[in-house]
Amino acid sequence: MKEADMSRQIIVGNWKMNGTTRDSRELVQALLDKVDANGPEVVVCPPFTQLALLNQALAPSPIGLGAQDCHKDVSGAYTGDIAPPMLTELGVSHVILGHSERRQEHGELDETVREKAVAASKAGLTPIVCIGETEDQRESGDHFDTLGWQIKGSLPDGFNGIVAYEPIWAIGTGRAATTDEIAETMTFLRQELVRQFGEAGKNIKILYGGSVNDKNAASILSLADVAGALVGGASLKADAFLSIIAAASAA
Ligand code: PGA
Repeated sequence: MKEADMSRQIIVGNWKMNGTTRDSRELVQALLDKVDANGPEVVVCPPFTQLALLNQALAPSPIGLGAQDCHKDVSGAYTGDIAPPMLTELGVSHVILGHSERRQEHGELDETVREKAVAASKAGLTPIVCIGETEDQRESGDHFDTLGWQIKGSLPDGFNGIVAYEPIWAIGTGRAATTDEIAETMTFLRQELVRQFGEAGKNIKILYGGSVNDKNAASILSLADVAGALVGGASLKADAFLSIIAAASAA
């Protein structure tokens, strides 16, 4: 993996459990028509079932391919799981790990996420590790504690991936965190990363995720220390996703 180019933002589309073959082809074609190599880095993360198709469609393009999860082992008796080398074989460069939907619905712990991050890096993938507080934690003022523990627990020694700060209450709700909340949290996360990784912690990109859309992207992406966005719902609509990419180009 290359050293992070801190000046270039990265916009990641997390399609979640959406995308039949027809939808995926259409969406990706609309993106291919407009995305060029001069803007931010763009990565789309479709469901596993679309990776082979999109690998073909995207191979000669500036759009990268990501997955939404991977296992910590390279092979074995793990029904339903996907190993990191299976992803690299399909042209995948990034993998989202520890998304709150996986932490909540699949019981993933910080330790699980950390082991997956090690395995992903070993296979040559860039892990995008998600952290974020619940609404209760923010309201009770415990959010920084929570985020601090998640950073300590989810990021392995020598971590050279990306962190995505996604407040759980902002995901899929249409209620993004305010720019003040994001700015304050970014400052805290940077301090924690430097505390844990020293100088190297300064070069870990931190994305914001949670109801990023074509209207709020410009103000969020222009905040200091926001290195890009992890986009769910709005990444399924070509126009909205392209507007977010344009906002990153202008940031
Ligand atoms: P959202 O999802 O943009 O639909 O809020 C973001 C995410 O879960 O990564």
